[in-house]
Amino acid sequence: MATAGKVIKCKAAVAWEPNKPLVIEEIEVAPPQKNEIRIKVAASGMCHSDLYYLFEAKNSAGFPIVLGHEGAGVVESVGPGVTEFKPGDKVIPLGAYRCGECRLCKNPETNMCEKCWSNIESAQMSSSDTRFSCRGKPVLQFVGTSTFSEYTVLNQIAVTKIHPDARLDRVCLFACSFCTGYGAAVNTAKVQPGSVCAVFGMGAVGLAAVMGCKSAGASRIIAVDINEEKFEKAKIFGATDFVNPKAHQKPISEVLIEMTNGGVDYSLECVGDVTVMRSALESVVKGWGVAVIVGWNNVEDVSTRPVQLIAGRTLKGSMFGGYIGKESIPKLVLDHMAGRLNLDEFVTHTVKMDKINDVVELMKKGKCIRAIINISK
Ligand SMILES: NC(=O)c1ccc[n+]([C@@H]2O[C@H](COP(=O)([O-])OP(=O)(O)OC[C@H]3O[C@@H](n4cnc5c(N)ncnc54)[C@H](O)[C@@H]3O)[C@@H](O)[C@H]2O)c1
Ligand SMILES: [Zn+2]
Ligand SMILES: [Zn+2]
Repeated sequence: MATAGKVIKCKAAVAWEPNKPLVIEEIEVAPPQKNEIRIKVAASGMCHSDLYYLFEAKNSAGFPIVLGHEGAGVVESVGPGVTEFKPGDKVIPLGAYRCGECRLCKNPETNMCEKCWSNIESAQMSSSDTRFSCRGKPVLQFVGTSTFSEYTVLNQIAVTKIHPDARLDRVCLFACSFCTGYGAAVNTAKVQPGSVCAVFGMGAVGLAAVMGCKSAGASRIIAVDINEEKFEKAKIFGATDFVNPKAHQKPISEVLIEMTNGGVDYSLECVGDVTVMRSALESVVKGWGVAVIVGWNNVEDVSTRPVQLIAGRTLKGSMFGGYIGKESIPKLVLDHMAGRLNLDEFVTHTVKMDKINDVVELMKKGKCIRAIINISK
């Protein structure tokens, strides 16, 4: 490639400060260093976690930044020491990766990694070591990925190679929402055949959770959302019952307990709201009910009365659906290509990067599931 080893000037959507529209800027992307890969991003979804960082996380130190972590692209060039990838490979950048060396990485029971988590959980939620700059200033890379840029650079441990025929404007959803929701149901909750499930929040993550509950053989899947426009999609994904908490006088947990003769077997919170997390826990049946927190929140506390847990309920959390992206995503891509996993129903809009602020508005107003942003032509 003619660009290998050189700084690339390209377009990116820069978040200069919280609560402001993204700005399409020309940024400079440095060549990949040792063990790094520079990727031309083809397409990216926008996830609520991008909005969370921009509007809700109350973290003014972590700017300017390029958001986006649900992308797919093609390798442009590789740095020294990279053996697994070559220019032209189709790849997915991973916000959740494994260093392979820490205590967590050595335990097959978890997909967590100390190194990755310190980047994700730190106030900045991004690597301070960035390859981006704009107008002479360093620009941070959101969870290391930054897929709202025509080019991005990641360490090879945080990239996975996928089949050369994969459709990038669909399989990008494996980089976050699909794995997060589907895996929360099948890997974290371990939904059993014949069980009754409730999923709170019918965004892409919640719909993927519905899909996971269905594939695990749940007999009843209750979709809970305050936006009833989402119920049509929820039905397509396999939900059997639909509840709008705003249409009831009593707490939603009481409504679900009445509907299910004592509570659901599994509940999945895919909203990111601590009140909803409490409702999700209190909606599961005593004795064995499992509630899984999927929605992101690192600024508020979640509370409940201890007897809710003493009664035999379990509260768990799920990061990236428990999947190890590097190993699992290439297999999921093959399932998609073979027609076993349909991603089309998630995609309600397709736009070019210069319309990215329209996507922010659609997401905020609950008017889309996933808008796919075509990042580079
Ligand atoms: N744990 C992880 O690894 C991980 C990964 C990705 C995303 N997330 C989080 O998952 C959550 C969902 O992401 P998304 O992109 O699907 O979001 P989204 O904004 O597309 O969807 C959220 C849905 O929740 C609904 N909702 C809002 N308030 C509600 C309430 N009180 N009760 C019921 N429903 C309510 C909204 O109407 C909307 O349909 C976010 O918190 C996101 O940050 C977590
Ligand atoms: Zn996400
Ligand atoms: Zn590790």
